[in-house]
Amino acid sequence: MIRKKIETRLAHVGVIGLGYVGLPLMMTIAKAGFFVTGIDTSHQKVERIQQGISDVSDVASEDLAPFIQRGQIQVTTDYRVLTKLDTVNICVPTPLRKSKDPDMSFIISAVEGIVQCLHKDQLIILESTTYPGTTEEVVLPRLAESGLEIGKDFFLAFSPERIDPGNEIYETANTPKIVGGITPECTQIAKLFYEQFINKVHVVSSTQAAEMVKLLENTFRSVNIGLVNEMALMCDRMGMDVWEIVDAAATKPFGFMPFYPGPGLGGHCIPIDPHYLSWKAKTFEFYARFIELASEINGSMPKYVFDKIAGALNRHRKAVNGSNVLIVGVAYKKDVGDTRESPSIDVIRMIVDEGGEILYHDPYVSQLQFDGVESYTSQELTTDLVKSVDCVAIMTDHTNIDYEWLVKHAVVVVDARNATKSVEAHRDKIIKI
Ligand SMILES: NC(=O)c1ccc[n+]([C@@H]2O[C@H](COP(=O)([O-])OP(=O)(O)OC[C@H]3O[C@@H](n4cnc5c(N)ncnc54)[C@H](O)[C@@H]3O)[C@@H](O)[C@H]2O)c1
Repeated sequence: MIRKKIETRLAHVGVIGLGYVGLPLMMTIAKAGFFVTGIDTSHQKVERIQQGISDVSDVASEDLAPFIQRGQIQVTTDYRVLTKLDTVNICVPTPLRKSKDPDMSFIISAVEGIVQCLHKDQLIILESTTYPGTTEEVVLPRLAESGLEIGKDFFLAFSPERIDPGNEIYETANTPKIVGGITPECTQIAKLFYEQFINKVHVVSSTQAAEMVKLLENTFRSVNIGLVNEMALMCDRMGMDVWEIVDAAATKPFGFMPFYPGPGLGGHCIPIDPHYLSWKAKTFEFYARFIELASEINGSMPKYVFDKIAGALNRHRKAVNGSNVLIVGVAYKKDVGDTRESPSIDVIRMIVDEGGEILYHDPYVSQLQFDGVESYTSQELTTDLVKSVDCVAIMTDHTNIDYEWLVKHAVVVVDARNATKSVEAHRDKIIKI
């Protein structure tokens, strides 16, 4: 029955959590012809989507609005709608607690909402990044309280979300999807579902394996970024340019994949996900040394950048205390507006703690708020502004900024991203990491 509904695209699809992951997923599913209902606990988010407004850069409001107008996408805060849905994808946040333990509260609250409405022939898929074992140990027992039988009455699978915000080549539909179900039937039904709107679906043997795939992918990035950041620290000590070295190594057509140094890790995934794995590994008395080492090196980068800023000011006989620093880019990576875990915030905190004044410009972030109190507004990037500050620090290499112009008018520039690579004039003003 559910198979037929999926194949004919008459299945009514639900997506829980309408953020960076859930909203693009909802759009992709709707584009394949399904009716989709989105559920989010944020009234503000639901109201904006109901007005056809997207706050996620990968989904244009012009694309979203027609789906809302013709009722093919509906959004609500009311979980009771789940009684009418055939499939449900869970895309809620999975942050870390301060103690670096996984915070499962969003997943648990979503599952507790689902179990009230769970019915026969319903497919539930967890997409939130989490530690191996979550689907079987946290989600399944709660759904089983309904009295329905897994693999027969309802189906449960894990499929990691692999979206790369801002990536113009790979989006949801053309990024292969990993699927692992609790039972073989769960896997097959989840596979059939994704095949309706994703080009390639790769099946693994269990939900644990699917959970682990995602953690390998993100740990791979974290460790390689940690390695190249250590190279940057080493090259600095040895008087070499790490960027030149990485670019030259990248000419090797096999056996090398370039990763670039920077001010530290950011975003909701790479700084967080590896800790999920090391936390779980510890319960098996396994100490994940690569993860901890990468985290230590990557976590030291904001301080390294701060020291470069202090050194740049020192060149001009100035102290951090009393100086104005213009931060260019507060998003965690280029061409997106996401500031979660952004290393720019760590650097700003250090400058402010030492008595410096902060101004910032980011074309994608009009307002920056953190620690509940600090609030800054993005400044227009004018010649007067750039000339007036004691130091410019490029923290994010957004593509729509004229770096030639920026260097020309700045007193001194600390470049944490090699954004000034092609700038030819005034190179003596640039301090790279
Ligand atoms: N952002 C990325 O690039 C990315 C990539 C791959 C995987 N992921 C993973 O996907 C998951 C979601 O991340 P995101 O970036 O979309 O988060 P997000 O914060 O942008 O969105 C999550 C949404 O869930 C809503 N929400 C929270 N609790 C809820 C509940 N109980 N019921 C309904 N809605 C609820 C929030 O209001 C929010 O709108 C995380 O596990 C993350 O690790 C994120």
